Amino acid sequence: MPEDLYEILTEHPTEAASFLRERFAVYNYEKNDTLNNEDKSLRPIFETKLGKLYQCDCLDLLPSIGTETVDSVFADPPFNLNKNYGAKVNDDLAEEKYLRWSYQWLEECCRVLKIGGSLFVYNIPKWNIYYSSFLSKRLTFRHWIAVNIKLCLPIPGRLYPSHYSLLYFSKGKPKTFNNIRVPIPTCRHCKGEIKDYGGHRNKLNPKGLNLTDVWDDIPPVRHKKYKNRSANELSVKLLNRVLSLSTNENDLVLDPFGGAGTTFFVAEKLKRNWIGSEIEDCSPIIERFSRELIIN
Ligand SMILES: C[S@@+](CC[C@H](N)C(=O)[O-])C[C@H]1O[C@@H](n2cnc3c(N)ncnc32)[C@H](O)[C@@H]1O
Repeated sequence: MPEDLYEILTEHPTEAASFLRERFAVYNYEKNDTLNNEDKSLRPIFETKLGKLYQCDCLDLLPSIGTETVDSVFADPPFNLNKNYGAKVNDDLAEEKYLRWSYQWLEECCRVLKIGGSLFVYNIPKWNIYYSSFLSKRLTFRHWIAVNIKLCLPIPGRLYPSHYSLLYFSKGKPKTFNNIRVPIPTCRHCKGEIKDYGGHRNKLNPKGLNLTDVWDDIPPVRHKKYKNRSANELSVKLLNRVLSLSTNENDLVLDPFGGAGTTFFVAEKLKRNWIGSEIEDCSPIIERFSRELIIN
């Protein structure tokens, strides 16, 4: 080895190792097939036959999850838009701090993902461009899915924001990619089909259209009656699609940012194992399960 490189490696072993890991996306974590949290003070606040919910900072839970044990990660973090999630969450960080924090949990999510596993991150485009760059060094880019949002406030001097970004990466070639078909779109009023398919309507698959990377059929969860938690609950339809596409029964799904528990709830319904954390009050998740699902 050239002498100057040898010097760098011996004098700065930690920095050199993390530089090489970053550059080549190679990690030397110990592989562990099970959760190894029994020796720590982490105890689930809620359990079903399939899942475990921890009321804690995800940065405390993630290190306790074995390397390459999770089939699919779905993460919907706070967007740093100064929303009030509760006393333990500061959603108004300096940009650099928000990104540094994001890279910490993203790194852990990459580590726990099985080879061939999938990772989805839901955020506004402003943050997901940084996340993409970070993730591209570690995982394989699959899609930037635009999830059309029907209503939000116009911002003066800017284009009208009309989509959230759902990043989809996999650890190498995806081991599960279930083909999802969607119904042919029809007019809400006259019920007629919206497009004419350039005269090839008869060639369409009767089971529906292939899913594209623009999802404009995801309803917002707005009505109080259907909301399980006040802040930022996602639609069951979105999670149904993500988990059906990327996992099979008995697979393990991780969501570090539980919120109202949509991921856990859908995972349970689809017979996937699940694990996750929520730093604030978990009672909306627990109540949702007891209200909408028969447990055990
Ligand atoms: C955007 S919401 C997630 C909503 C969820 N996807 C749903 O459909 O209900 C983000 C959640 O992450 C939680 N949170 C914020 N920081 C956290 C952290 N460090 N660890 C665990 N949960 C955190 C917030 O309290 C909030 O409930």
